[in-house]
Amino acid sequence: MPCYSSDKLNALVKEAKKYTAQGKVADYIPALKKENPHDLSAAIFHPDGRCISAGDVDQKITLQSISKVLTLALALMDYGEEQVFEKVGYEPTGDPFNSIVKLELYNPSKPLNPMINAGALAVTSMIKGETIENRLERILDFVQKLAGDRKIGYSQEVADSEFKTAYLNRALCYFMMEHGIIEEEVEGLLELYTKQCAIEMTCLDLARIGLVFAMDGADPFTKEPLIPRDIVRVCKTFMVTCGMYNAAGEFAVRIGIPAKSGVSGGIMGVVPNRFGIGIFGPALDEKGNSIAGLKLLEMLSEKYSLSIF
Ligand code: DON
Repeated sequence: MPCYSSDKLNALVKEAKKYTAQGKVADYIPALKKENPHDLSAAIFHPDGRCISAGDVDQKITLQSISKVLTLALALMDYGEEQVFEKVGYEPTGDPFNSIVKLELYNPSKPLNPMINAGALAVTSMIKGETIENRLERILDFVQKLAGDRKIGYSQEVADSEFKTAYLNRALCYFMMEHGIIEEEVEGLLELYTKQCAIEMTCLDLARIGLVFAMDGADPFTKEPLIPRDIVRVCKTFMVTCGMYNAAGEFAVRIGIPAKSGVSGGIMGVVPNRFGIGIFGPALDEKGNSIAGLKLLEMLSEKYSLSIF
């Protein structure tokens, strides 16, 4: 499917790019330090196949936390709501994505939602499969389907880099193991999780996946149902309430669409029944969200009245 460079989108990207100077690339995953903080690219995919883009849309990015929405959908398809929400809650935390503090404050101790790292690790531990390889393959197959059967892989370098330094995620896993939320060997789970986070794609692919969520789970072109509508509804709700972590409230007010960020600087935006958005801008604000990406979304939301509220 061709994607055309758009003058209007280019103008907005140029404007938003100014804000990259105020952000910093993530450095707690050493491999992400290599990203250029001044990059900003975006794509918008419409259900009639029109795709517009701006910036270097061939550049690949790793999904990082954006993958959490996709594994949540898969776990819900594997087990259903009741079983999944036995291990993870529904509530926003108001804390940073990697915070450990609320795990100890609540009883029964379970992560508050599937978008924070603790909740996402609990969700990944529910992905079915005989081995870590099988489970990763299932995630990749699912992501490939959502991306319109495009070949999607992961960055071994980014996965290794995170795996070696994931001290906090290891701590979250062991805490949850103590409380029966995680029942598998932690190193294997972390291998799977870091590979899931290192899944690589362009912002076009990201926009294409956002479009599937915008169209209630149906492939926009073949109309094949890829995710049940009810599960899409659950995922979109979490994107609104928890997708930007402790910035979710301000995001809802200023932009007002279901969206999910990742520390690589990616953002997947979902404009229900209208289009999917993929953004890549690796300079992050202090809450771990793409600083220029948020600005760009704010401009888009204002110009095209995107808010669902
Ligand atoms: O687990 C982590 O810390 C990363 N793999 C993902 C975190 C992330 O993307 C947070 N989002 N803004």
